[in-house]
Formats: sequence, C-alpha cells, structure tokens
Amino acid sequence: MSHALTGRKVLLIVGGGIAAYKSLELVRRLAERGVETRAILTAAGSHFVTPLSLASLTGNKVHQDLFSLTDEAEMGHIELSRWADLVVVAPATADLMAKMAHGHANDLASTALMATDKPVLIAPAMNVRMWTHAATQRNLATLLADGIHVVGPDDGAMACGEFGPGRMAEPDVIAAEIARLLSGAGPLSGYRALVTAGPTLEPIDPVRFIANRSSGKQGYAIARALAEAGAQTTLVSGPVALAAPPRVKLVKVETAREMLAACESALPADIAVCAAAVADWRTEDLPNAKIKKTAGKAVPELRLVENPDILKTLAQLSKGRPRLVIGFAAETHDVIAHATEKRARKGCDWIIANDVSAATGVMGGDQNTVHLISAGAREDWPLLSKDEVARQLAARIARHFAGAA
Ligand code: C5P
Repeated sequence: MSHALTGRKVLLIVGGGIAAYKSLELVRRLAERGVETRAILTAAGSHFVTPLSLASLTGNKVHQDLFSLTDEAEMGHIELSRWADLVVVAPATADLMAKMAHGHANDLASTALMATDKPVLIAPAMNVRMWTHAATQRNLATLLADGIHVVGPDDGAMACGEFGPGRMAEPDVIAAEIARLLSGAGPLSGYRALVTAGPTLEPIDPVRFIANRSSGKQGYAIARALAEAGAQTTLVSGPVALAAPPRVKLVKVETAREMLAACESALPADIAVCAAAVADWRTEDLPNAKIKKTAGKAVPELRLVENPDILKTLAQLSKGRPRLVIGFAAETHDVIAHATEKRARKGCDWIIANDVSAATGVMGGDQNTVHLISAGAREDWPLLSKDEVARQLAARIARHFAGAA
C-alpha cells in the first residue's frame, strides 16, 4: 500500500544528548510513513546511540566522518545534504544550535547543514538552564530568522533531575512535523475535516453515568492523519485518555447531545468521519441530587430514551452536508451485510466496517482489519495498525477528491 510520503527522503542528524534514543523511534515512525532516512551521527551522539542501531533501523550506512575516503567516494557530504528533501537535527544540542547559528563547518554534521539547500527542522534537547541561557535563546532567534523550523522542546522532568523546558519533543510529534513539512501543501490542504471519537458519557445523576469501552484510538489517529495530509481538522471527542494530536482543534464533550452540538458548530466541513461510539440511549430524566440507596426501598428504575444519531444527522443534512460523510460499523457477526445495510440506512457515503468480536482484540487494541464499503463497491484492507488504517484512509480520501477513486 502506498503512503502519502512514500519515496520522500530525510537526512537525520543525531546529536549528543540522552534524547538520542528517541531518534531511533523517530526513524521507525518515518519508515511507517514510507520515508527513507539516512543518518549522520555526531561524535558526541555516538556516546548515546550506536551506529549499528541507526544503520539497522534506517537500512542505510551511517555517516560519521567528514574525512572518510570511502564515504566521500560513495556519497560525499555535499551529495548527502542534497539527497534529502528535508534535514532534521534530533536531538539538536546547544552546541549544534550554536554551530548552525554561526555557520561553523568543522565536522560532518555542521558541514552538511551548511551545504544543504533544503528545509531544516531542529528538535532541541538540553538541560533547562542551557535552553534558557541567553546564548541559546540568541542562537534560536537567529535560526528562526534564517528560516529553520523548530519543534519543541517540551516541558518536563529531565534526565539530569531538573524540571522545565528542554526535553526533546516526542518522536510522534517530530514525525508529524516532518510529515507536514514534507507534504508541503499536503493532498488535503484547503479541505476542512470533522472527526468524532471516543465514547459518550450519559449521566444517571450528578455522580453516576452510563458509558462504553471505546478508547478513541482509531478516531484520534484519523484526526491526526487528516491534519498531516493538510486538512484543517476539528476533533470532537468524548472522555478518553489520549493527548490532542498536533495541529488538530480538539473539542471535548461528554454526552451525545453535546457531541452533536459541537459537530454542528464545527460545520461547514468537506469531510466528516464519525468514529465515536455514541451511546445509543441516555436516561430520560436527570435528578439534580444523587439517587440515594435507602434500605428497604425499591431499586431505582432507569428509563432510557434514544440519543440523536450524529452520523445520520450529518449525512442527511439538507443544507451544508459535508461532501464526504464516513461512518464506522463495528460488528460482531455478518460484518459486511450489516455494514452495507447501515450505510444505506444512515445515508453516509462510506462505511468502514470492522469485526470487533472479542477474539479480534480490536476494542482497546492497536490493530484493525477493515473493509471500506462505498456505493456498490467494497475494499478489503489487510490487518493494519490503527495509525496505518488512519493514514490509508486519509490517502484514500485524498484520492477520492482528486477524482481518482
Ligand atoms: O448504529 P451504529 O452505532 O452501529 O452506527 C455506527 C456509526 O454511527 C459510527 O460511525 C458512529 O460514530 C455513528 N453513530 C453516531 N451517533 C449515534 C450512533 C452511532 O454518530 N448516536
């Protein structure tokens, strides 16, 4: 299967910092998106990760020496810096930032950075005092003025025991930034997307509620993938334990009715993906005091009423209907037949059907096998991670709007 970033090339410069181990994870995240990576490991960086780890993960030789005859014969430092579509420095140490700001070129990393004519992204990582030091902040301002892109650093506990800004951004966040820079405009740039995710929570009284086991993982991954593909994305989410994806507008809600209202205010949209597990029912009346358990008194009876169907409402809007409305059908048996019927009943354009019976481990898990059902056609996708399902879906949506499918 192809990815939006297949064939794109990143030159990753790994500097000397404890965060260098996260760069190994970054290489994997990039590979998942179809990006080819070559790495330069600085002398300081090689104290934290080995050339062998980087070579194994990138599938390419690791470059370390400016004056290596063999390296220069195979791919010289100028060629290396031109080969890439994007140069990424992660971790970018205080020293590397200083070198970049002042135009030093006394080792392979700094020379490649001077020789490149491609965009450069740095992910700074250093002790909080080094980050806040006037010299680093001056260098940062110079680099920003030079058009260098910067991701992070984050606030948090540091390996040195201090707390504050200086932690390298997480690999996922750096990968998303790389995806954004590589995709330039992105195949969905200019499109607006609305995604629902997670469960809804329907109160019984001020302290109790009805909910379900939806983790929100698939919906969050879809919002992230759409944003990475360039879509202006709003994610309306029920309560979940997930962080907001980068560059996504997150609207948190609890009940189905709040979710519908938030979706309506997020319109107009070109694309709506309803991945939320909306509670089918809510309690009819909501007492404003906790229902007391009184000895000898009858057990309370909950009267339920139907919740609005958000997917159906969006799909059947007479004015301002999103051009592509996509629903999910989580089924435990007769997956295709039920999903096909659901598509017709709800009036959406596509249904993503999946088998959520216990043995599949889909609910709360990280993998999914889905079928895309559109008018008169069906695509069976292989077992993929939920992130991969999301990226394939974003690519599929982009092809749909490009008129190819
Ligand atoms: O009817 P069922 O819940 O199986 O349909 C699943 C699809 O409908 C999902 O896309 C889900 O997000 C959406 N849905 C909704 N509002 C509801 C119920 C389901 O948007 N009240």
